[in-house]
Amino acid sequence: MKQNGFFENIIGDSGMMKQLKACIRKIARFPWTVLITGESGVGKELAARAVHDLSPRREKPFVPVNCAGLPDTLLESEFFGYEKGAFTGAEICKNGKFREADSGTLFLDEIGEASVKFQLTLLRVLENRVITKIGGLKEESLNVRVLCATNKPIEKLAADMRTDLFHRISTFPLYIQPLRERKEDIPKLAAYFIRQFRKEYNEQSAGTEALNISEITADALSFLSGLYFYGNVRELKNILQRAVMLAEAHETCIREKHVREAVYLIPQPGTDQGTAALRWLYEWALSNQNRFRNRHRQVNESPPEGWAGRWDIKRMRMPAVMPGSFASEEDLWEEICFTVKATNELLTTGGFETKSVIRDWTARGWLSSGSRRSTRTGRMGSKTVPMYCFSRKVIEKIII
Ligand SMILES: Nc1ncnc2c1ncn2[C@@H]1O[C@H](COP(=O)(O)OP(=O)(O)O)[C@@H](O)[C@H]1O
Ligand SMILES: [Mg+2]
Repeated sequence: MKQNGFFENIIGDSGMMKQLKACIRKIARFPWTVLITGESGVGKELAARAVHDLSPRREKPFVPVNCAGLPDTLLESEFFGYEKGAFTGAEICKNGKFREADSGTLFLDEIGEASVKFQLTLLRVLENRVITKIGGLKEESLNVRVLCATNKPIEKLAADMRTDLFHRISTFPLYIQPLRERKEDIPKLAAYFIRQFRKEYNEQSAGTEALNISEITADALSFLSGLYFYGNVRELKNILQRAVMLAEAHETCIREKHVREAVYLIPQPGTDQGTAALRWLYEWALSNQNRFRNRHRQVNESPPEGWAGRWDIKRMRMPAVMPGSFASEEDLWEEICFTVKATNELLTTGGFETKSVIRDWTARGWLSSGSRRSTRTGRMGSKTVPMYCFSRKVIEKIII
């Protein structure tokens, strides 16, 4: 193993990741509890392993336990173990997780899901530092460092959990930011994962054709950086893996096309809302277009809804072509554009939850294309207003 073990696998030099790494270095040597919070896939388990690998316990076991869905009836045997003959079926003496992790680190993942009974059990052990096996007669003392993780926000955990346990486990809190708030880490992460995929592939497919992919294009990275990443780093890794599989065997680069396809292959949470909302907007625009036909020249007369409309954009971008007869321009339009204000109002009218629709659109890459952001500004009268623009490609793909 590398000298610093998993610590060296933490990729990212955004301000937040630098801080996180510095913090891990600092707290690793202490035997006390650390609570790691952050959305799913941000790297909580990786951080926990890094803490362990930098600690004096690095040569001892790191024992991960998932606290979600552990039935209360199994708690004691799972954590404390049992003596031979303690109950029917106990044919051998078995150590529990606490004993397994002795002198090492116990990682309690999804601690926010621990049952009430589990919380009580845990509290007792953490306070007394002793356990007794089921059917055992004596207490055994323990030397275990406990690390906990949860994807609940810390204030939610504090509200949901027994207060005494919460304070017991949150001795030192480590928060890991969502990937979307540190997008500058994406290029390094992508390069790292591509190296990892090559290594894994070449190890497992010895003798067959090697994997050629070794790079990712700037366009592909820029498309990636427009995504929302509900699943954070895990999702990024997953998308890239899919993109590698979608590329042709001779290709050496992951291109934007592969990444797009990879993203669209997996429905995003709430995507149906995003699709339905765009369809609704499009239909609204079609059925209302006559209201805007006569107004395209005077943008300051835009309707109260603030729909800038496709012709306004056309006019702004191709003054030589517009104004003209709309019929002949019909097949020229490239985009449908709404001011942000109009979008919000229309979505509300349509009964959509605006925030989550925008999140879906962003996640699916509909609001960005290559390096060109699709949230742009337009002019309404003398004002400059932000707008959402959907390219014809997007609309065709989704609606037509
Ligand atoms: N900063 C990072 N550098 C490299 N790999 C990362 C990083 N953050 C997360 N990963 C990888 O992403 C995946 C998910 O990380 P994990 O620690 O399981 O997240 P969590 O426990 O927060 O859900 C793992 O494969 C992990 O190795
Ligand atoms: Mg995890």
